[in-house]
Amino acid sequence: MSSFNVYQIGEVKIEQDSCYIEICAPYTLGLQHIEKFGHIIVMWWISMRDTPKDRATLLVTPPRLSNPVETGVFSSRSPSRPNPIGLTKVKLLKVENNRLYIDRIDALDDTPVLDIKPYLPGDSVPLSDIRLPEWFESLKD
Ligand SMILES: C[S@@+](CC[C@H](N)C(=O)[O-])C[C@H]1O[C@@H](n2cnc3c(N)ncnc32)[C@H](O)[C@@H]1O
Repeated sequence: MSSFNVYQIGEVKIEQDSCYIEICAPYTLGLQHIEKFGHIIVMWWISMRDTPKDRATLLVTPPRLSNPVETGVFSSRSPSRPNPIGLTKVKLLKVENNRLYIDRIDALDDTPVLDIKPYLPGDSVPLSDIRLPEWFESLKD
């Protein structure tokens, strides 16, 4: 198996009234025209789950299910996984210098950000085409 290098390009900042991604100085040129997009995909490092135990996790029980089911980690959004990579689609509210203000994100304050990509129409799947296992059906409502 191969291993690969990734670099932190920014970090998540959660404040009382706002939430933003602060891009590190060497990468700010890469933000050109990002403000023209309404939504972005944020790829982040699930930093506090970067442990041998969390990385060895292959079976998980997703929380908050009325009938808990054990499932493979790749069938889940568990933060404990072989590569602790988090992916979140967020609404881009405004851009100020090296700060991308967003509506919300499920990453904690100071979480390292690895990449940002614009959300494009081809990324969305009509709700009627989404197939889910029965234990996730309630998420469609
Ligand atoms: C279930 S994961 C899903 C992440 C992402 N939406 C995804 O699908 O890849 C989100 C949870 O990870 C946890 N979390 C967020 N930032 C973290 C960090 N830096 N280290 C460890 N856990 C974190 C929080 O409990 C959050 O609710």
